[in-house]
Amino acid sequence: MRKFLSFFVLSAGLVFAEEKIVLKKPPSSLDKYYPPASTKFEFLSNMHAMSTAFYGINANINEGNWEKALMWAQKLKEIYVKTSKMVPEWKNYFKPELADALVNAVKSKDTDKVIKASRNLGQTCAKCHRDNELVVKLYYHFPSFDKVKLEDPIDFMEYETGKYMKVMTNSLKALKVFLSQGDLDRAQEEGMNFIERARGLRAMCSKCHTNKLSEEVILGKNFEEGLAKLEKLLSETPKKEEVFQALGQVTISCAKCHNVHLAPAMVREAFSR
Ligand code: HEC
Ligand code: HEC
Ligand code: HEC
Repeated sequence: MRKFLSFFVLSAGLVFAEEKIVLKKPPSSLDKYYPPASTKFEFLSNMHAMSTAFYGINANINEGNWEKALMWAQKLKEIYVKTSKMVPEWKNYFKPELADALVNAVKSKDTDKVIKASRNLGQTCAKCHRDNELVVKLYYHFPSFDKVKLEDPIDFMEYETGKYMKVMTNSLKALKVFLSQGDLDRAQEEGMNFIERARGLRAMCSKCHTNKLSEEVILGKNFEEGLAKLEKLLSETPKKEEVFQALGQVTISCAKCHNVHLAPAMVREAFSR
């Protein structure tokens, strides 16, 4: 019985044992099961249902309740077949005859047969997961930043996220360069531009987040204090070490936000070309 239990754990979720991971663009017919087309996550919810049904077979056999196990096996088959029709491009990943075989194995009340049939069916789950699960998580669980526009507070242009980041980072780099070479006037000017642009970042959060808390986690007190410190330093005769220290405090927030949002945004961007 142990054997059966541990097999199930292997059959669901992320399992990688590979040297190389290739991300293929998910088929577009998946779009309709994810935001903005749908907020019900129908495809994902079938995954949970199949996983639960698998567990239902397993748990009931462990308790000797073959009838209930059969009920779950039939449910598993039903959802499996239904799911196989949701994404035509992925039809070949599914082997409905293996779901049938599992139902029959449970009917036979032969644990060894159930283990074998489960493994066979589970391999069809695992194959698709290896090929597609990671990219679907990255691609569909984060909305695109392409459509998020920000007004630049310096040249009053509307930029998309990537462009805004670039312009803001150029001010940051210019501040560092001019400060390092002792060009204080230019450093002050670029530094002030950077501060304005960094403050402008806040406007983008509410385009997706309705909860202020998410914004505060990253652009909270530490970020605001860092910018205020920087502003004060630049309004006097700026000292390089102090400015760099204040910048460090500010850019922690950039790194935090990138840790959450950048990798999925890069995957989206790569596929949009
Ligand atoms: C939403 C949280 C968020 C915050 C806060 C944030 N970024 Fe970004 N940043 C992004 C995202 C998303 C992208 C990818 C945008 C794209 O390519 O569409 C990005 C991209 C970038 C890029 C690459 C731009 C390019 O396309 O060449 C740079 C550089 C950058 N950010 C710098 C910064 C700096 C510096 C700060 C802090 C002052 C900062 N970011 C704060 C989310 C954030
Ligand atoms: C044709 C491809 C495909 C097949 C076949 C498939 N899955 Fe999935 N599965 C996915 C994708 C894609 C995801 C990621 C979905 C997402 O995160 O929105 C996933 C995610 C999951 C997850 C994780 C859910 C989560 O919240 O992270 C479980 C559990 C799962 N599948 C179970 C199963 C089981 C059990 C089977 C077989 C009976 C199966 N899947 C067959 C594509 C497939
Ligand atoms: C294009 C949409 C989008 C934008 C713009 C955006 N986020 Fe997010 N963010 C998400 C999504 C999606 C998640 C994943 C969590 C979820 O599903 O709610 C997330 C997660 C987070 C999380 C971790 C989970 C949470 O809700 O606390 C933080 C913190 C966060 N974002 C902060 C920010 C900040 C700060 C900004 C603005 C600088 C920002 N986000 C801009 C879409 C966005």
